[in-house]
Amino acid sequence: MRALCTALVLTAAVAACKKPGNEGAGSTGSGSGPAGATPAAKQRTIGFAQVGAESAWRTAETESIRSEAAKRKITLKFSDGQGKQENQITAVRGFIAQGVDAIILAPVVETGWEPVLMEAKQAKIPVVLVDRGIKTSDESLFTTLIASDFIAEGKQAAEWLAKKTGGKAAIVELQGTPGSAPAIDRKKGFEEGLAAHPDMKIIASQSGDFRRSNGKEVMEALLKKHGKEITAVYAHNDDMALGAIQAIEESGAKPGTDVIVVSVDGTKDAFTAMVEGKLNASVECNPLLGPMAFDAAEQAITGQTLPKKTVVQDKLFDTTNAKDAIATRQY
Ligand code: AHR
Repeated sequence: MRALCTALVLTAAVAACKKPGNEGAGSTGSGSGPAGATPAAKQRTIGFAQVGAESAWRTAETESIRSEAAKRKITLKFSDGQGKQENQITAVRGFIAQGVDAIILAPVVETGWEPVLMEAKQAKIPVVLVDRGIKTSDESLFTTLIASDFIAEGKQAAEWLAKKTGGKAAIVELQGTPGSAPAIDRKKGFEEGLAAHPDMKIIASQSGDFRRSNGKEVMEALLKKHGKEITAVYAHNDDMALGAIQAIEESGAKPGTDVIVVSVDGTKDAFTAMVEGKLNASVECNPLLGPMAFDAAEQAITGQTLPKKTVVQDKLFDTTNAKDAIATRQY
């Protein structure tokens, strides 16, 4: 009944349904009109502490949150953390001071969140984690996490690469941001996937911080050092893979043929590269989390119980199916 009322209040469809839950600071409007009148939909104010704009994936996630907020007439306080945890902590503190109804946080790294999340908890402001998880011994510090399974993504990439190379490869790994959940888990999952293939070896592993320019730079250096020894690249995201592809081309080799390239995200540019045969495969990681994030925030604000984690379902694309899917890609 409570869920039903919430939905009805949100669409302002039914007059007699009394709004439940948190009517906390920072909110505007009133749920109680004159008897028999339609109550005004509660206008929420929600803070979103974003990592930054390091990749096409990240930009798509920001756009999903912004457009969904606009659709729901939510007042969105947006902060770009520019890849720094201290900026995100300052942003969360600012949201708390402004008395937002809820906070959506995409944490750049896994550790170091307890103090600020404790402040949010004390202020009774629910925190919805999107895309990346955190490491904490106190799970009451956040309401829920909505994210892909990064370990499974890494494992899928390794299994695909094993099939493609017949279980023999000299691999360069381009890692994401050090200390971030996707960098840690995609590495772990990939190594788990390689465990059954003794002739598949990671010969070098370096961070490209999820950025295309860094992926190119790191790959250039690794090509200089290892040259033709490199038979495959595993990049923790498409942007770094696309940078690496450029470096491979500039070195005179053919990406996709001389060097097999597999990555994660499934962005439009990655699909174009797969259609061109330069990128061999990309494991999808859906950034369009706006609708789920605001559903979760509203449920938390209205006192509903949420699962601690919702895993977003993704699939792998490669040169065999990219062409058919490219027209329908949304990011
Ligand atoms: O946390 C998700 C990762 O962060 C994406 O794979 C990457 O592109 C991004 O910047």
